[in-house]
Amino acid sequence: MKRILLLGSGGREHALAWKIAQSKQVEKLFIAPGNAGTANVGENVNIAVGDFDKIRDFVADNGVNMVVVGPEVPLVAGITDFLRADDRTKDIPVIGPSKAGAELEGSKDFAKAFMLRHHIPTAQYRTFDGTTVEEGLRFLETLKAPYVLKADGLAAGKGVLIVPTLEEAKKEFKDMLGGMFGNASAKVVIEEFLSGIECSVFVLTDGRHYKILPEAKDYKRIGEHDTGLNTGGMGSVSPVPFATKEWMQKVEDRIIKPTVDGLAEEGIDYKGFIFFGLINVDGEPMVIEYNCRMGDPETETVMLRLKSDIVDLFDGVANGDLDKYVVETDPRAAVCVMLVSGGYPQKYVKGYPISGLDDVEGSIVFHSGTALKDGQVVTAGGRVIAVSSYGRDKEEALQKSFQEAQKIHFQDKYFRSDIGQDL
Ligand code: AMP
Ligand code: GLY
Repeated sequence: MKRILLLGSGGREHALAWKIAQSKQVEKLFIAPGNAGTANVGENVNIAVGDFDKIRDFVADNGVNMVVVGPEVPLVAGITDFLRADDRTKDIPVIGPSKAGAELEGSKDFAKAFMLRHHIPTAQYRTFDGTTVEEGLRFLETLKAPYVLKADGLAAGKGVLIVPTLEEAKKEFKDMLGGMFGNASAKVVIEEFLSGIECSVFVLTDGRHYKILPEAKDYKRIGEHDTGLNTGGMGSVSPVPFATKEWMQKVEDRIIKPTVDGLAEEGIDYKGFIFFGLINVDGEPMVIEYNCRMGDPETETVMLRLKSDIVDLFDGVANGDLDKYVVETDPRAAVCVMLVSGGYPQKYVKGYPISGLDDVEGSIVFHSGTALKDGQVVTAGGRVIAVSSYGRDKEEALQKSFQEAQKIHFQDKYFRSDIGQDL
């Protein structure tokens, strides 16, 4: 039987915890630090995801025999290697890549060069730093508007700028190199703009074999019809209608397989999720970005559609025999509508009481940014609650999520009521 520690505290982690808790293999599930929702499916442990020493001690002292890492920050900082380097935790499987593998997300320059080496379709690009500013400005002049500028390192999802004019692009480029995102933009990737509709594809890999999970589409902008500022994600839908069998075959042949094979060829240890941020350009899939973890809020729909026991799949990842397992998916549609704090993604207030959670019947409520304060669930983030639903089709699922979303109350609640309508 398994004693699992899941790291993270968002809606993705609540959805993962919900799914892990359903496994017949699980004796005990800890979530560090978790949120008010994860406390309903496991036991929260008050340790931050960046506190590696405490995580190691907790694992060793509490008989934990599997660690699942939700967010990218500890992966990019090397949690997997850290646990492997300690005698007490070295044999405990970690679902999440090594620091070298997490560079797929931790460095855009690394990811782009990797794709180039393995002939994986992606936008044309070049990388610049403080010593090549003039070259960067000249490269911008060779491109057409709009201009895509990416901070090389992790920037909490804010490191990509899409700029309409050459003049602004040159200014932003210099500002980025000047420290707009701190050290994360010490290098800047400039790339060709790709036009198309996006789709998130997820795999689990043991480093040699891989299993494709249900795909999803997320909605990043704060405003209806994809207007306004970028957010962490305002909702998601699975399946994605344009991700047909033929299209997914292209994705597998041109993107997934070369990625997993490329990691293995380069001797990069990768046991965990790979998130392929794809764009459909005239029917051809191309890679916008890699992430070394599941997506949020995609996980809040993907977990609904995964029928197989996820801990069995994790065993396959850990043991290197993932090919022996089958991923069974639910044929129903799943959607997620994110309830956010008014003002998000800019300034917003935390600590508002949330009511009505127990009245929700037709949907599954995942907590994203919540906390318990004196026994009361309160808002504790920009994205607060993900309302996920099944339906025969996405329309039916959306109708449920929108209906149940009305039952949940907190001050200045906002959500997008056009999720899924563009598909
Ligand atoms: P990322 O943080 O890499 O996911 O980028 C944020 C968003 O910027 C993506 O989801 C896309 O919508 C957009 N984006 C990134 N790169 C490109 C590109 N080359 N062409 C068009 N849009 C892009
Ligand atoms: N939903 C996009 C992400 O998790 O990065």
